[in-house]
Amino acid sequence: MIIRIITFLAVTLCYTVSSHKILVFSPTASKSHMISQGRIAEELANAGHDVVNFEPDFLDLTDKFVPCKKCRRWPVTGLNNKLYKDIQNEMSGNVFQKSSLWSKIFNSNRDEHQDEYNNLCEEIVTNKELIEKLKAEKFDAYFGEQIHLCGMGLAHILGIKHRFWVARYPLILFSLSTINFSCTMSVSMRDSLGIPTPSSLLPFMSTLDGTPASFWQRANNFVLQMAHIRDEYRDVEWTNQMFRRHFGQDFPSVDYIAKTSDAVFVSTDELLEIQSPTLSNVFHIGGLGIFNKEAKLDEEFSKVMNNGSDVVLFSLGTIANTTNIPPSIMENLMRITQKFKDYKFIIKVDKHDTRSYQLAKGLDNVLVTDWVPQTAILAHPKLRAFITHAGYNSLMEAAHAGVPVILIPFMFDQPRNGRSVARKGWGILRDKFQLIDDPDSIEEAVREILHNPKYQEKASRLRKLMRSKPQNASERLIKITNWVLENDGVEELQYEGKHMDFFTYYNLDIIIVAAIIPTLIFIVLRISNITVAVKSTKSKKE
Ligand SMILES: *[C@@H]1O[C@H](CO)[C@@H](O)[C@H](O)[C@H]1NC(C)=O
Ligand SMILES: *[C@@H]1O[C@H](CO)[C@@H](O)[C@H](O)[C@H]1NC(C)=O
Ligand SMILES: *[C@@H]1O[C@H](CO)[C@@H](O)[C@H](O)[C@H]1NC(C)=O
Ligand SMILES: *[C@@H]1O[C@H](CO)[C@@H](O)[C@H](O)[C@H]1NC(C)=O
Repeated sequence: MIIRIITFLAVTLCYTVSSHKILVFSPTASKSHMISQGRIAEELANAGHDVVNFEPDFLDLTDKFVPCKKCRRWPVTGLNNKLYKDIQNEMSGNVFQKSSLWSKIFNSNRDEHQDEYNNLCEEIVTNKELIEKLKAEKFDAYFGEQIHLCGMGLAHILGIKHRFWVARYPLILFSLSTINFSCTMSVSMRDSLGIPTPSSLLPFMSTLDGTPASFWQRANNFVLQMAHIRDEYRDVEWTNQMFRRHFGQDFPSVDYIAKTSDAVFVSTDELLEIQSPTLSNVFHIGGLGIFNKEAKLDEEFSKVMNNGSDVVLFSLGTIANTTNIPPSIMENLMRITQKFKDYKFIIKVDKHDTRSYQLAKGLDNVLVTDWVPQTAILAHPKLRAFITHAGYNSLMEAAHAGVPVILIPFMFDQPRNGRSVARKGWGILRDKFQLIDDPDSIEEAVREILHNPKYQEKASRLRKLMRSKPQNASERLIKITNWVLENDGVEELQYEGKHMDFFTYYNLDIIIVAAIIPTLIFIVLRISNITVAVKSTKSKKE
């Protein structure tokens, strides 16, 4: 008996996961970045780890927002962030700017957002006092996003052995052609990890209709993807130069530090993805923390939702600021609502958007508001459809609630998300410019989504698939992290392909040789035929 107890205790102790000290790199680069990194910090802290949420304050947000409760927050304020804030504000105004394919291909400007991020990064990593304090913490692990590799360099300076690379957007990002801001390094992240990205299939900045898409669509997609990878490596090189200026020429490339991470966590749900090649150390953790508590309606919205008619929700998220978008958009939208008098429309706008409040005056089936309890409204049985910018969190919430959507993507990953959902059959995709010049097509989409039951059927199926998954996001994050840390890394899962150069990886040398040899043989044969022919005519003449 005693032996059994001792064995039991020994086994229990052996399998008890010890607490690790984890640094989550969470600059306040935008509110949504803060939220998503904060969720990771919170889950890790809930699992018993000692977690520091490190928050260099790029946008002066640290005192306005609590990203995680159980973690230890470490804000770094007083940074020289004025220019960064200006760039971020400008972005929302530029959403409706068109830029040509050529300007993207021959873009030789460095990305100003990445530049400013780099400058702020420099301010942090050269702050000796701060670095000493961080070093003293002796972190076991680092979590950082792919938007910029500053944190990877920092992890190296701090001597953190285990790194987890978080893809905040879908692995293949589709930053939109309207703005120059390349939001994350997703395609280049894949490239860096050695994961092939078939540009024939996965839309990057362009559209790919149908499989296979037409020659020109694929060509366009291919070229844009290549240009993006080039731009991203240029930014990485700039970051490397900054680190080498301060820490010596043998400071490793931040790209190398990143790609040798122990595991990659992708903040998307695999059910919402366009399927593509992946690796064994890449794990999807989409929806983390979103569904931890049951969403509740407050009194005001509960009255609105339970007032008889079915409801349609319209929201363009937080980055497309409705104060600054062309006025015709909201005018067209209000006109459309009047074609569906049986439905109530809840329209979320920016707080300063007085124009939209004016437009809605006298329309009794329209509620304009600057705040909506979105998760709770989506989960309400009276909600029939959601018109959305196809931001990832919104789509996750819609999928989880089983709500069909009309997708009007604006930027970043949104066009790609939109296309994926439309293909999977629970949404209708529209172009944002149709809001301005073709409102009829938006109206038609509203009619279709409300009257054709097939969208609701697919949405309900997705809801069931999501809820019956064998492992949820939180479980996956914690179990993989613990597994990696308890085993001092899982080298066995590292892909060798990521250390090969592009030329060798895709056998371009062989393809070139294979193309050259037959050409040479052909030329040699032609020449000898000609000489033979010339000789024989000569001999005939003689
Ligand atoms: C985008 O590029 C165009 C021309 O290439 C430039 O005029 C514009 O200022 C840029 N916008 C941003 C936000 O970088
Ligand atoms: C995820 O799974 C774990 C273990 O089954 C469970 O305790 C937790 O409540 C789940 N989380 C969510 C958000 O469903
Ligand atoms: C409920 O509907 C009635 C008429 O249908 C309307 O007068 C009233 O304002 C609505 N209440 C809310 C909270 O929307
Ligand atoms: C939207 O734009 C207006 C006007 O430029 C600005 O005052 C407001 O703060 C912006 N809203 C957000 C959420 O950034």
